[in-house]
Amino acid sequence: MEEQVVGAFRISDREFNQLSKLIYDLFGIVLTEKKKTLVIGRLQSELKKKGLKSFHDYYEHILEDKTGQSLLTLIDKISTNHTFFFREADHFEFFKEEALSQITSILRSRNEKELRIWCAGCSSGEEPYTLKMLLNEYFSNDNGWSVKLLSTDISSTALEKAITGIYKNENIQNIPKPLLNKYFKKYDDQNWIVKEELKKNMFFKRLNLMQNDYPFNKKFHIIFCRNVMIYFDSETRTDLVNRFARFMIPDGFLFIGHSETIGRNNNNFLYLKPALYRKKA
Ligand SMILES: C[S@@+](CC[C@H](N)C(=O)[O-])C[C@H]1O[C@@H](n2cnc3c(N)ncnc32)[C@H](O)[C@@H]1O
Repeated sequence: MEEQVVGAFRISDREFNQLSKLIYDLFGIVLTEKKKTLVIGRLQSELKKKGLKSFHDYYEHILEDKTGQSLLTLIDKISTNHTFFFREADHFEFFKEEALSQITSILRSRNEKELRIWCAGCSSGEEPYTLKMLLNEYFSNDNGWSVKLLSTDISSTALEKAITGIYKNENIQNIPKPLLNKYFKKYDDQNWIVKEELKKNMFFKRLNLMQNDYPFNKKFHIIFCRNVMIYFDSETRTDLVNRFARFMIPDGFLFIGHSETIGRNNNNFLYLKPALYRKKA
């Protein structure tokens, strides 16, 4: 049996398997053997804080905690929230140059003026704020539209940061200056904050993509779920993509991460270009 030791803590194969099964069953995230050191590194402060001696005790503690708080902390620590403004920039080009004009013309032809976008796995907000800046610019001369942007994530810490909208100087570098000056203001020497105007019609909610059902009454026109499915196995990815299809209008656009694929022969989606799909009509 192999045991991994980091600092004062060690994790046996059995303990690792228990914990990784729990994380897979509840959140879809696959933790391979290689992630043992990462698991200890990310969770050891939690064991110390709770005065727990082993990962077995930690596992038991999570199961016994009926408030669900320990699970929230677990997923907060395990999920990787890395993100940045204008990440995978060609997507945003396509979004403003193609996707918005195509979707709005479909809606116009039906006399509809409500556009619904879902950013699933939004992490700390850089992705949805990028989208919202582009949306505000796109619709700046057309007030008749109601544009709603829902952003969801499993991590409460990431969501809190997104809602607060404060970002370090070094993290706003990718934002073009005119957009930065229009939609952000200096918070202090080290940080910038999103202006309230940009937050209008943005909704942040905690949502586990693995939960049985999603609480949406209306379908989305565009879904972004980028760099989230890399943590899932192919079965979970296929399930999730089929669910996205159910919550999307025909001809809607699905953006996924550039290192992800859902295959070119998907029943529900047409492949447009790398990491970009369109729901079949
Ligand atoms: C690497 S970040 C990607 C952020 C952003 N979409 C981007 O591309 O920059 C992955 C996000 O997926 C979230 N996530 C992982 N598993 C999830 C699940 N089961 N339900 C909802 N969100 C999940 C994580 O909390 C994390 O914030």
